[in-house]
Amino acid sequence: MWPLVAPADALPSALIGNSAHGAQLVGACNSCHGKGGEGVANIAFPRLAGQLGPYLAAQMHDFAAGTRHRAVMKFAVKDMSEQDLADVGAYYAAMNTPPTPSTAAPDAAKDQRAMQLVNQGDAANGIAACGSCHGFDGLGRAPDVPYIAGQHASYISDQINSWQMGDRHSDRGLAMAAVAKKLGAYDIAALASWLSRQAPPAPK
Ligand code: HEC
Ligand code: HEC
Repeated sequence: MWPLVAPADALPSALIGNSAHGAQLVGACNSCHGKGGEGVANIAFPRLAGQLGPYLAAQMHDFAAGTRHRAVMKFAVKDMSEQDLADVGAYYAAMNTPPTPSTAAPDAAKDQRAMQLVNQGDAANGIAACGSCHGFDGLGRAPDVPYIAGQHASYISDQINSWQMGDRHSDRGLAMAAVAKKLGAYDIAALASWLSRQAPPAPK
């Protein structure tokens, strides 16, 4: 078994989100994340629709605290209370937006490598299977291991690069930093492309 990544009590907030209140707080978010939380594929603005609420709240907390760096995101959430963050998380978590079709081209060899990394990992190179934490369907695990299936390819590769450079270092237990540092450029491109073509969580 892989080490436990993030016990629920390690989250900054275990507050129950109120999505109706969250809806009132996202007006300024739509220009980048879209009215449906669909994000923008070609410029690495992440899809938020259907993502786990506690995960989203934790990320916003990290942007505000400065442990995950992105100036626009710090500015967007810096005045929100922890309850507001939980509410916004609950709002996006409940969204039923259909996936944006990926424009990443299938490639037999790369797709095979991506599926190997997701399902088995690469023991010879010390790479844990993505599915062991994110689920073998890539749909994430409550409360705070995010879905990666159906996320935008550009965003997936950006985030893996951020961990490699030490720019994103807020994850509890640092599970992803360790994984990211073992991935080469070919693997990152293969994973980003293949994952972006998989289905995100189905509408609830
Ligand atoms: C100017 C564009 C912009 C605006 C406005 C913006 N965001 Fe973001 N957001 C981004 C980008 C870009 C990222 C990816 C950051 C990175 O590279 O780490 C992001 C990341 C996030 C994440 C992390 C998602 C994940 O999967 O880890 C959350 C949650 C989020 N934004 C919520 C919001 C909310 C809520 C608002 C409004 C209050 C908002 N954003 C406003 C551009 C924006
Ligand atoms: C040991 C558990 C573990 C393994 C194995 C793992 N991840 Fe993760 N991953 C996480 C956790 C936990 C997070 C959330 C980090 C945080 O809170 O900032 C995450 C976050 C991510 C994100 C960012 C999602 C977002 O919305 O910002 C991507 C992309 C990702 N993982 C891809 C992968 C890929 C690809 C693999 C396989 C090569 C993998 N992960 C293997 C635990 C893991």
